[in-house]
Amino acid sequence: MIDTLQIKVTETSNPRLAETEFKDIPFGKIFTDHMFMADFEDGEWKNLQILPYGPIPMSPAISALHYGQAIFEGMKAYRLPNGDVSVFRANKNFERFNISADRMAMPTIPEEIFMQAISALINIDKGWVPTQENYSLYLRPVMFATDSSLGVRASDTYKFVLLATPTGPYYTKALKVKIETKYTRANEGGVGYAKTAGNYARSLYPFAEAQKEGFDQLLWTDSATHTLIEESGAANVMFVLDDKLITAAVSETILNGVTRDTIIALAKDKGITVEERKVTIAEIIEGAKNGKLTEAFAVGTAATVTQIGEIGYEGELHKLSDVSTRTVSTSLAKELNDIRNGLTEDRFGWNW
Ligand code: COI
Repeated sequence: MIDTLQIKVTETSNPRLAETEFKDIPFGKIFTDHMFMADFEDGEWKNLQILPYGPIPMSPAISALHYGQAIFEGMKAYRLPNGDVSVFRANKNFERFNISADRMAMPTIPEEIFMQAISALINIDKGWVPTQENYSLYLRPVMFATDSSLGVRASDTYKFVLLATPTGPYYTKALKVKIETKYTRANEGGVGYAKTAGNYARSLYPFAEAQKEGFDQLLWTDSATHTLIEESGAANVMFVLDDKLITAAVSETILNGVTRDTIIALAKDKGITVEERKVTIAEIIEGAKNGKLTEAFAVGTAATVTQIGEIGYEGELHKLSDVSTRTVSTSLAKELNDIRNGLTEDRFGWNW
């Protein structure tokens, strides 16, 4: 039983919902009318509040800006056929948020604050949950260090903020991806399994370089040998090879994705053989050449299930099967969407 917390509510005097056009809305640019905020001070979370979405006055010396103590999550809320709103597997994101916090020497957040922040924000901004197919309300909790101090040490104070942004599909076409063998996203002993800002910062330069070469995204490889495929852009990656669904096993360098976990559960439920293990570049390229690689796709909260159409490796481009032939990923994606949208029975108890 979770106690109901005292959350101070200040409603906006300038609601923007009526004037907001949802169709083709860009990812993460339009925020709802309100946000949730809490402060960590003197060893406890306090000042829980809902307030109008907007700038937060802060010192330019806050340590998050200088030393990168910042973590976040991504979840989606869906409009069910009866008009209610459901958030998909928020408990998993809550768990991972605290795993990230721990790794980054930040305080964890109690479950009741995390979950009641979501309820309170959705409650006040319910009208922002889209009704269109393939649209949802993306929820972005973020925690960052707020000590105004340039000494390199873990901050004593933090802010937790929850933002919400209506969103459609993150990608609208099959991706042309490059297997990246110079730069890496993560390394052993590092922070790859944490959802922390620096992991995304370090990906931006290699991503921009790949874009200059005409690619849409990267397939990250392991830092030690550059022979293993780990993730795709800001999502996990899966392949159907020899009729088996294969993906990198979670490890220190792999983000334990909620969509990854969900797709694996749905696949196993359908009787598909799933292998969570090391995935070699060699077997993927070989499979692309001999036709045994029938599907490749990225999985993530923002990406959902995004098809990979072409893979570039060592200057060669490997065109994969036509997306219309990809029965495994398309049926898993459909089932995932149907559960999230309340169109089929939620037999795993994922909707909250
Ligand atoms: C997500 O899928 O929720 C992500 O965090 C990926 C990205 C938009 C940063």
